[in-house]
Amino acid sequence: MQSPNNLTSTGIRKPGTTEERLRIEHLLSPTALLETELTLGSDIVSGLSESPKSLPPRYFYDDRGSMLFERICELPEYYLTRTEAAILRRCAGEIAELTGECEIAELGSGSSTKTRIILDAYSELGCPLRYLPIDVSAGILESSARELLADYPSLEVHGLVSTYELALSKLTPSPLAARMICFLGSTLGNLNRQECDVFFSQIAGALQAGDFFLLGIDLHKSKEVLEPAYSDAQGVTSEFNLNMLRHLNWRFEGNFDTSQFEHWAFYNEVQRQIEMHLRSLGEQTVYLRALDLSVELGAGETILTEISRKFDLDEMQEYLEGRGLVPVRVWTDPQRWFGVLLCQRLS
Ligand code: AVI
Repeated sequence: MQSPNNLTSTGIRKPGTTEERLRIEHLLSPTALLETELTLGSDIVSGLSESPKSLPPRYFYDDRGSMLFERICELPEYYLTRTEAAILRRCAGEIAELTGECEIAELGSGSSTKTRIILDAYSELGCPLRYLPIDVSAGILESSARELLADYPSLEVHGLVSTYELALSKLTPSPLAARMICFLGSTLGNLNRQECDVFFSQIAGALQAGDFFLLGIDLHKSKEVLEPAYSDAQGVTSEFNLNMLRHLNWRFEGNFDTSQFEHWAFYNEVQRQIEMHLRSLGEQTVYLRALDLSVELGAGETILTEISRKFDLDEMQEYLEGRGLVPVRVWTDPQRWFGVLLCQRLS
């Protein structure tokens, strides 16, 4: 029999069963999530009614879209994932030393692959391991939490099935000495400037004085490197982009014919962002029955599906400091393609 807090008489934590170490909290009930976020489709109606047309990137991620994104991360042209992982492997020990004991919260945790690099570093320092993954997909969150619990016998996981905004507004202070919120993979790049400002005020509001924020960002570089990363030779990114139309057909009873669209991605050097579009191959009318929405597209007309901003490391440090997140240390790779920033909220 273990004592209620799983401590031995000498205060050492005993490994508990997976069930004892796993807590998953649904901040949005599955029904509420479906109704408020996805099925209403008001963002689809406004995006397709405006000129130029656009669609919100969150509709990429149905089951097939998530699987395609995992494949993108392994493509030879898509340097982001492996460059960030290499930086983390090199700097995780330093991160753990700089923060000391802390709860590791991760926004958009997905399959939690990079989390292992971070957990290993804290484990080597002898810190208690506590992980707070935050993701809208309950299935992925639970399966990756269970895999982590099987591999880290002292780890405790408190998962939040939630949108970022809701989770950040509901965080209570960390039960450990501090918390580090991680936002990796340059997902920040998919937010426009205004969304970015809102996001950072939510982050600053969720952190207590002394807490940390770990951010991974893709850096500005030549078109010759950037464009192939979003238009790969195997056509996986093209499938990922077109899959959004299949997702909308399924979710909103639409009749998009994917053979009548092509993937188009380019680097806008002025805005410093990749812009990913779906281009209509001819004049066509598409109908989404569940939204009673009829959309007319001209030949060559495009729908913007995603921006992926590329950042400057110095500008980002200044920006973060201006939002009360003081950069503690910054790491990059030998080519300066990707940056990892550890920041702290001081007061
Ligand atoms: C999720 N996000 C950081 C990816 C990116 O690079 O902007 C999404 C992506 N879109 C096409 N390829 C990858």
